[in-house]
Amino acid sequence: MNSYKIAFLNSKGGVGKSTLCILSALGLSQTRFDGKIKLIDTDSQKSSLSILNQVSSKIELDFIPFNHASPNLGVSLLDQKLKTYSVKEEIILIDTMAHPPRQLVNCIMQCDSILIPCNLSEIEILATIEFVKMLDSLKKLQGSGSPHLIIIPNKVPPKQVHINQLVDALSEVDVVIGPTISDLAVFKNDLKGLSKKISNLPQNYKSQYIGFRDFIYKVLVKRKIDKLIAGENETHNESAETENVIPISKNN
Ligand SMILES: Nc1ncnc2c1ncn2[C@@H]1O[C@H](COP(=O)(O)OP(=O)(O)OP(=O)(O)O)[C@@H](O)[C@H]1O
Ligand SMILES: [Mg+2]
Repeated sequence: MNSYKIAFLNSKGGVGKSTLCILSALGLSQTRFDGKIKLIDTDSQKSSLSILNQVSSKIELDFIPFNHASPNLGVSLLDQKLKTYSVKEEIILIDTMAHPPRQLVNCIMQCDSILIPCNLSEIEILATIEFVKMLDSLKKLQGSGSPHLIIIPNKVPPKQVHINQLVDALSEVDVVIGPTISDLAVFKNDLKGLSKKISNLPQNYKSQYIGFRDFIYKVLVKRKIDKLIAGENETHNESAETENVIPISKNN
């Protein structure tokens, strides 16, 4: 398949789905990837579309209107777009709304990766874990080992270094923990201009942006994650039946 599909999903609102989707599109547009980058916004608020509008001609923007009362039309449109064969290599990023309808979640399960932003408060962690367990059970039903479920700790206070609380809470679920994204003004106020100004930004902003971009491109799209997981299973053969939590840690 020539396309790599990544959805940004969480039942909770305001956790950073749109922010990380936008950061991914901008970051990918600066990599060596010369295929198509397509962002599909399924949220009626159109946050991703309005911010990225006219920022980069490399990013193709699309909107699927979703009506919560009758989501089937939106789901079948999305399904069609995800199943369309592309001759050129492409990466499809899908931004979703809070409380996504079940039909949308089912459709999203055909993606290669699902990124789940999570803020590190106890309440958010508990809600996210329930949601991830539900995704994990859908994934098991598919039996294909896909999509990868990836938690991105987002809006982490800059001075907080440990994410143990989240790692411990996720120990029974088959998820990967991606790079930590701090609560930084630049991710709130200047997303659009970020990719242009990145080299002049303070080191901590720069390394988070580049770390996240590399995670999306090198680990996910270039499928290093499959090797990492295969490697993990080899070294822990005796527990091959148990779930993995592979903290890829900060900015890897
Ligand atoms: N790493 C970050 N640092 C600072 N602010 C952030 C960060 N990530 C997100 N925000 C801010 O948090 C708020 C919510 O983010 P965002 O809109 O991306 O969440 P969402 O999950 O898409 O929300 P919704 O469910 O409403 O679609 C926004 O004001 C955004 O600017
Ligand atoms: Mg959003």
